[in-house]
Amino acid sequence: MGRLDGRTVLITGAARGIGAACARRLAADGARLVLADLDPGVEKVAAELEQLAVRADVTRRQDIERMVDEPYRRWGRLDVLFNNAGVIRLQPMLDVTEEEWDRVMTVNLRAVFFVLQAVSRRMLQQGLMPGSELRGKLIQTASIASYRGGNHLLTPYSASKAGVVSLTRSAAQALAGERITSNCVCPGAVETAMWEQIDQEWGALEGLGAGEAWKRRIRGIPLGRPERPEDVANVVAFLAGPDSDYMTGQALNVDGGLVMGN
Ligand SMILES: NC(=O)c1ccc[n+]([C@@H]2O[C@H](COP(=O)([O-])OP(=O)(O)OC[C@H]3O[C@@H](n4cnc5c(N)ncnc54)[C@H](O)[C@@H]3O)[C@@H](O)[C@H]2O)c1
Repeated sequence: MGRLDGRTVLITGAARGIGAACARRLAADGARLVLADLDPGVEKVAAELEQLAVRADVTRRQDIERMVDEPYRRWGRLDVLFNNAGVIRLQPMLDVTEEEWDRVMTVNLRAVFFVLQAVSRRMLQQGLMPGSELRGKLIQTASIASYRGGNHLLTPYSASKAGVVSLTRSAAQALAGERITSNCVCPGAVETAMWEQIDQEWGALEGLGAGEAWKRRIRGIPLGRPERPEDVANVVAFLAGPDSDYMTGQALNVDGGLVMGN
């Protein structure tokens, strides 16, 4: 028996990185998954895991509706949302343009909110999860950048992730009476394509060679190794499963101690 046997989960940003690692872990725990991404790679991940794929851009209203309809069409309910898709761009604070600000905010904050809202409206119409006192669970991916804000090269990104922590708490308050919980994970420096991009952009801005920014970043991790997507997946599996049913409105750092370390 898996911890998540029969539980239905929608994961956004599931084509690679943290989303794909969570898909693998939740599938291994017995969950039924709808995997959503605008990248066609999501179909490969879904085929590997024998789960469902939806090509969707979370910034588009019609795509959100189509993506959220999928688990209801197939299974008549959605137990867990993992609201994870995100983008980044490094720029000195004084160079940030309105276009870049809008792009990051539109994916990382606006879309996260409207996905959460669309799912919550549907969850309100369904009964309790089998064997649970809850109707559903919402999980967002924020970041330790939401607290640190320290790196001025990440100004819009950090603000967007602080917003994700905030709306996680608003949803927790709004929906607790309806037996829907809302929590988020705050990863640190995770080995994914996003960090390859950070390494490149940071390197270009500060004249560092390939891999140098990454080396600098991971040097400060108290637990002494880079974070893997699977480290985040372990905590998402806990938030998706029954052991976290009495938690809501929380932001959990999964960062090897990075946020306190330097
Ligand atoms: N990698 C890190 O160090 C780190 C740290 C903290 C938080 N995070 C957050 O974790 C989440 C996942 O990041 P990752 O490291 O796996 O990055 P990633 O770039 O490897 O994966 C992000 C996925 O989101 C998808 N995506 C982007 N925009 C989308 C859109 N409009 N519609 C649908 N899908 C879209 C991409 O296609 C990609 O598959 C993001 O929210 C990111 O901000 C990452």
